[in-house]
Amino acid sequence: MKVAILGAAGRMGRMLVSLAEERGMEVVAKVDLADGYDRTWEGAEVDAIVDFSFHSAVPGNISKAAEKGIAYVVGTTGLDAAEQAAVDAASAKIPVVQSVNYSLGVNLLLDLVEKAARTLGPGYDIEVVEMHHRHKKDAPSGTALMLAKAAAKGRGVDFASSAVFGRKGETGERTDDEIAIHALRGGSVVGDHTVMFAGEVERVELVHRAQDRRAFAAGALKAAEWAAGRACGLYTMRDVLGL
Ligand SMILES: NC(=O)c1ccc[n+]([C@@H]2O[C@H](COP(=O)([O-])OP(=O)(O)OC[C@H]3O[C@@H](n4cnc5c(N)ncnc54)[C@H](O)[C@@H]3O)[C@@H](O)[C@H]2O)c1
Repeated sequence: MKVAILGAAGRMGRMLVSLAEERGMEVVAKVDLADGYDRTWEGAEVDAIVDFSFHSAVPGNISKAAEKGIAYVVGTTGLDAAEQAAVDAASAKIPVVQSVNYSLGVNLLLDLVEKAARTLGPGYDIEVVEMHHRHKKDAPSGTALMLAKAAAKGRGVDFASSAVFGRKGETGERTDDEIAIHALRGGSVVGDHTVMFAGEVERVELVHRAQDRRAFAAGALKAAEWAAGRACGLYTMRDVLGL
């Protein structure tokens, strides 16, 4: 299978290139702005594009992939509404897998969080805490948002009106329905997420710790294999995993 890796010089990109080669995939383009890398994947014969670059790079690349009928895996996070609209439009023409977290564990955790929120109910206050390495450019992480949305769904509350991003100053008492999200940054942490359900008499914590970027890279390459040749549409990692 022939893949192009976008953001190939980055932390994720380097891992993707080496893991793809280990899996016997042919990396036909290593695209990055850094010296020594390809400036484009166009011109190469490509079965799937795996994009872990920068949000502003996504619309142009995915639109060209849609014109050429190439499957696309979006790993890049922090897309704004217009950038996301370009992804949605492309998925009418090509198979697109998009997930803010390609690890098996986090995709399982989504189900567990939703179930915990539903089972424990309003007597348990929900707080999400994430920690990432000091170089991460967006906050909170896409994974923290996804986990908070799963908790909101389980609790039966509207995410947009219940989400609180950090706290400072005279915040007043916590309300029953709020779901607060806190972002910590430091060192080399690959990605930690805790969803906390704090009750009067007990506290439940569901924790995921990514120990190596291979957790994401392996999932994204699996998604590329799954997507190539599939019908057009916007899929998630849960579709790939059959969860
Ligand atoms: N979905 C997931 O499972 C998952 C996991 C980890 C990281 N991420 C996301 O992947 C992205 C990359 O993360 P990272 O830690 O590797 O970042 P990074 O900064 O180490 O790497 C990004 C690379 O993209 C390159 N780049 C920037 N603009 C580009 C462009 N226009 N064309 C081609 N290359 C370009 C940069 O030069 C850099 O080498 C981020 O959005 C991050 O949040 C997603």
